[in-house]
Amino acid sequence: MCCLILNFQRLKQVFNRRRFNILKIYGGWVFCTLFTVLLTSQQLPELKHKPVAPKQPLPFSHKTHVSQGLTCVECHTMPAPGDYAEIVGSTKCMHCHLTIKTESPSIQKLTWFHNNGRQIPWEPIYLIPDYVFFSHAVHVKEVGAQCVDCHGPVGKRDILAKERDISMTACMDCHRVKGGSLQCDYCHDTR
Ligand code: HEC
Ligand code: HEC
Ligand code: HEC
Ligand code: HEC
Ligand code: HEC
Repeated sequence: MCCLILNFQRLKQVFNRRRFNILKIYGGWVFCTLFTVLLTSQQLPELKHKPVAPKQPLPFSHKTHVSQGLTCVECHTMPAPGDYAEIVGSTKCMHCHLTIKTESPSIQKLTWFHNNGRQIPWEPIYLIPDYVFFSHAVHVKEVGAQCVDCHGPVGKRDILAKERDISMTACMDCHRVKGGSLQCDYCHDTR
């Protein structure tokens, strides 16, 4: 709106002086366009960060499996020292899928991985670089953080995508509130 008025004023001036200064007229428009782009780009991150799910080797649904009464830590154990939450191997899956839905092509694929001793090549969703210290065990068992805090309502999802922020800012925000340290060498090896 203000762009229109601004340009109208500019046009009037130029016409009054009976001097067609192309640069001035177009300059106004260029300025307005840049201004508008700048304004909208402030809202763009919201749209841009819609989580994109990686393609998984099997159509595994957390919703289906959590509704069977399976708990998160049954499939994601945190073996000592507790940094990682592992993804359970196919042996656990076969407890059920030796008999459940065996006619399904994806269960046949699961069975193939299992019978051939292959790891299922799941695509990672949440990843932080190697130079960051992080321990699941400390956060889950000592801090009392819930899976949902850092991964969202996984049990309601058919397909997992990265829907929660695990950036340095996100870590710092919680450390500030819950009393974790903000010192660089707490999370990074600075020696
Ligand atoms: C039956 C076993 C099973 C149960 C129960 C289960 N998961 Fe999973 N989880 C998997 C498998 C298999 C994958 C890999 C496929 C995928 O990403 O959907 C996975 C992937 C994940 C990932 C992404 C891992 C990565 O690489 O970034 C997170 C986070 C996760 N699960 C959290 C949870 C939470 C929270 C719960 C409980 C609400 C839960 N899971 C329950 C089997 C399970
Ligand atoms: C407690 C039993 C149980 C366990 C353990 C289990 N599942 Fe399932 N799974 C089910 C049930 C029940 C269904 C839904 C079957 C249906 O739709 O009728 C299912 C469905 C599936 C499907 C969809 C099949 C299709 O074509 O609709 C896939 C893929 C699958 N499971 C993979 C896995 C994987 C991978 C694991 C191990 C990480 C696993 N399941 C562990 C019970 C289990
Ligand atoms: C304080 C935040 C936080 C909480 C709470 C949390 N996670 Fe994670 N999770 C992460 C981060 C950060 C990563 C990436 C770790 C990495 O790349 O080393 C991750 C990765 C994972 C992975 C992929 C394997 C791995 O360890 O890299 C799985 C599976 C997972 N989380 C499951 C869970 C489950 C299940 C719970 C609840 C019992 C849980 N997480 C609680 C932050 C959290
Ligand atoms: C839910 C809030 C919360 C989030 C999110 C969170 N932290 Fe923490 N973290 C804490 C608290 C509180 C402590 C202090 C635990 C203590 O002193 O017993 C802690 C402790 C730690 C420790 C010290 C662990 C140890 O061995 O004693 C590291 C390293 C750490 N956090 C890294 C991270 C990183 C990296 C992230 C982001 C990926 C993160 N944290 C996200 C709350 C959080
Ligand atoms: C609570 C944990 C935590 C603390 C404390 C922390 N960082 Fe980080 N830092 C992270 C995580 C997590 C990442 C990885 C972010 C990512 O890749 O998404 C990171 C990434 C970085 C990077 C790489 C940034 C990039 O854009 O690739 C630098 C540099 C860095 N941190 C410096 C610092 C400095 C300097 C301090 C002290 C003021 C500090 N960090 C304190 C968790 C932490």
